[in-house]
Amino acid sequence: MLLFLYSCEVDWDFMKDTIRIIYAEEKYLSSFHQALDRVAREQIYVEMITAPAWEKTFDFFKKQTEGNFPVYYAIHDEKVVGWADISPSENPRLAHRGFLGMGLIDGYRGQGLGSQLLEACIQHAKKIEIEKIELSVYSNNSAAIALYKKFGFQEMGFIKHYRKLNEQYFDCVQMEKFL
Ligand SMILES: CC(C)(COP(=O)(O)OP(=O)(O)OC[C@H]1O[C@@H](n2cnc3c(N)ncnc32)[C@H](O)[C@@H]1OP(=O)(O)O)[C@@H](O)C(=O)NCCC(=O)NCCS
Repeated sequence: MLLFLYSCEVDWDFMKDTIRIIYAEEKYLSSFHQALDRVAREQIYVEMITAPAWEKTFDFFKKQTEGNFPVYYAIHDEKVVGWADISPSENPRLAHRGFLGMGLIDGYRGQGLGSQLLEACIQHAKKIEIEKIELSVYSNNSAAIALYKKFGFQEMGFIKHYRKLNEQYFDCVQMEKFL
């Protein structure tokens, strides 16, 4: 048993060294779409329950990269295993605020990758003069809330019964961080 646990640890350490955090590239878009779909189908963490249509995903990618907005992928074995992005509003009077979205596929969580992705996004957001990052997170998502608090996000609101899925309600915490 001990041997089994030890070998799991060695595997993860090896894997961690081979995971790269990169600015989004079009060649990984299909893999990103699959990763998003996987997390969405869990129906627990993000609002969507499947990935959006390919065209929408492509349009979002174009908007982020052409605008030089933060959009980072975690890559393992040439596949996207996680992502984080901050998208400012198209309305120029709201464009100083960016909205954060992120996720890791199951099996890659709790090992520091979320922290690396978020750090990359925050540093990028500072450079392009986004002044404030905002996000919504389900109140039962303790891992995500712990990550955001670690990076200095503060709770600014609470929406009861934010989402209703299969007769189950999810409350939502809204958080913000000034840069
Ligand atoms: C939320 C998510 C992005 C966090 O990324 P992660 O790689 O798991 O987080 P990290 O390993 O970087 O951990 C960050 C901090 O959160 C804490 N944390 C991690 N997992 C936790 C858990 N299950 N419960 C409580 N705290 C946890 C850690 O203590 C860590 O702090 P530390 O570095 O001081 O130890 C990831 O878990 C995920 O993708 N979850 C599913 C999708 C999702 O929830 N997306 C966000 C929707 S708002």
